[in-house]
Amino acid sequence: MKLSASDIIGLKNKRKITMLTAYDYPTASLVDRAGIDIILIGDSLANVVLGLDSTTEVGMEEMLHHAKAVSRGVKSSMIIGDMPYNSYQVKTQEALGNAKRFIEEAGCSGIKLEWFEHCPLVTENITRAGIPVMGHIGLTPQTADKIGGFKVQGKDAQAAKCLIDQAVILEEKGCFALVLECVPDKISEIITRKINIPTIGIGAGVHCDGQVLVINDMLGLFERYTPKFVKKYANLSSLILKAIEEYKDEVIKEKFPGKEHTFTIKEEELRKICG
Ligand code: KIV
Repeated sequence: MKLSASDIIGLKNKRKITMLTAYDYPTASLVDRAGIDIILIGDSLANVVLGLDSTTEVGMEEMLHHAKAVSRGVKSSMIIGDMPYNSYQVKTQEALGNAKRFIEEAGCSGIKLEWFEHCPLVTENITRAGIPVMGHIGLTPQTADKIGGFKVQGKDAQAAKCLIDQAVILEEKGCFALVLECVPDKISEIITRKINIPTIGIGAGVHCDGQVLVINDMLGLFERYTPKFVKKYANLSSLILKAIEEYKDEVIKEKFPGKEHTFTIKEEELRKICG
């Protein structure tokens, strides 16, 4: 049985919530086996898997393709599909239709969407249809150009008050959880205390109800840039590179394939062909 939105809400004030991204079957099954509470098919897919410059370059079809692969590998974690740019900053009915696709076609249990001007209305429309929605405030990469770039948000009193208001509104509109990205720790603490749904931080300090990281970042599989909030728990890039170089070397030196990787034919059968 997969964790539900109410299971996740029930964890607030009991224990910290764990969340990681995943974009494919083998990674998702490992994250699930490790007992991570929530798996997000993040639109960070654009950067860390597809090699694109911006999350705005990924669309519904790519997101669904990866979400379906993730679903096949998961037994217990709650799976959240990240609504890509322009899939919900559209007519409310169209936004609802796209949210439904994550549930019905890809087997997700809910969706995540980033704050934008009409976010409260769109969120309300989706939650009223019975789809669990995770909000996302603070640094919202899809609209980074409108919030001064990839910077910590809520650094002065006015901006911090604005984030607190957004959190309260999203709880009122029915969100079951809220991602806080790049927010000063004291502001995350205020928001976490003020609302009854869990906050999941990324670059938002230790006081959030849970934490999320992009899996390729924490495994050391994405080398283009590393945000300050990332802790690398492994350096898979160097392990993979070493393995590939060893393979290349062994092929060139005819050390691979060895006898144990090779199929044979009986001598008498061979003689029938070669004489
Ligand atoms: O796309 C993503 O991976 C995200 C997380 C950073 C929360 O939105």
